[in-house]
Amino acid sequence: MKIIEAGAARIPAIGLGTWRLSGSQATDIVSRAIEVGYRHIDTARMYGNEGEVGEGIRRSGVARSEIFVTTKIWWENIGKGDLQRSAEQGVEALQIGPVDLLLIHWPNRNVPLEDSIEALNETLALGLTRHIGVANFTSAMLDEAAAISSHPLVCNQVEYHPFLAQDAVLDACRRHDMALVAYSPIGQGKTLLEDPTVADIARRHGRSPAQIALRWEVQQDGVAAIPRTSNPDRLAENLEVFDFELGEDEMAALHELSKRGQRLVDPDFAPSWDRV
Ligand SMILES: NC(=O)c1ccc[n+]([C@@H]2O[C@H](COP(=O)([O-])OP(=O)(O)OC[C@H]3O[C@@H](n4cnc5c(N)ncnc54)[C@H](OP(=O)(O)O)[C@@H]3O)[C@@H](O)[C@H]2O)c1
Repeated sequence: MKIIEAGAARIPAIGLGTWRLSGSQATDIVSRAIEVGYRHIDTARMYGNEGEVGEGIRRSGVARSEIFVTTKIWWENIGKGDLQRSAEQGVEALQIGPVDLLLIHWPNRNVPLEDSIEALNETLALGLTRHIGVANFTSAMLDEAAAISSHPLVCNQVEYHPFLAQDAVLDACRRHDMALVAYSPIGQGKTLLEDPTVADIARRHGRSPAQIALRWEVQQDGVAAIPRTSNPDRLAENLEVFDFELGEDEMAALHELSKRGQRLVDPDFAPSWDRV
């Protein structure tokens, strides 16, 4: 498994996303994912599944120290005090000790960035997490946040796939020695997987379209991806992207698809995005 080094964090390049997984399905998928080799699990306060995710991690039998676990604080709770309390609740729900990475899930235009970044830094001193970072930050917000933060912000988790290559955000991540963690990395299993360019490259390599999208991501310096599946049969498929390589022309052809700028996650509280 490729490891992305960002600050002092070592982030496995493929992780399991868990949005919309709940109950025993979440527990089963997480423990099976770890059994087939996943070492990075992504959850969030807002997903309401930290309890089940934590149980899946414990049930896997793999040492806690081997698994990189991320949770996120919902944007309505990132004010001073509120953020630390929400982080405590996340750690309490997971029951696996401190998390490896704690993220601000979305920026909040009504909370000064200084306040939320300071609160995020305090979660380190409180022993709630080993590393801190952000999600859904624009390149300008990353510059600002990195300047404010006393400890390194090790990642920006953003939507990133061949229909939405975010060059400005990736440049900003590299500038600040942060990983870009790609969410919705297979385009939520929608039209990206039927695209003729993706399908053609997949045929050439004898791989699935999902594997081509994931390989395109992890082949870029500093990029990790967190595909989600509720289907145990797809766990191995989404992890097996380290034993083949895309040519420069193929990487470029996939990047070219992002001219569509197809954003799948764009709630009304989203920031004013970088142009793509
Ligand atoms: N920070 C944020 O604001 C944010 C926002 C969105 C997502 N995320 C994180 O990123 C994770 C991934 O994003 P996502 O869930 O939006 O989308 P995604 O991982 O791109 O796609 C998931 C969808 O693709 C299908 N799928 C999975 N593997 C497949 C394969 N090999 N072939 C074909 N279809 C496949 C899944 O269906 P099956 O279940 O049937 O396999 C599911 O419907 C989330 O779970 C969450 O952890 C974070």
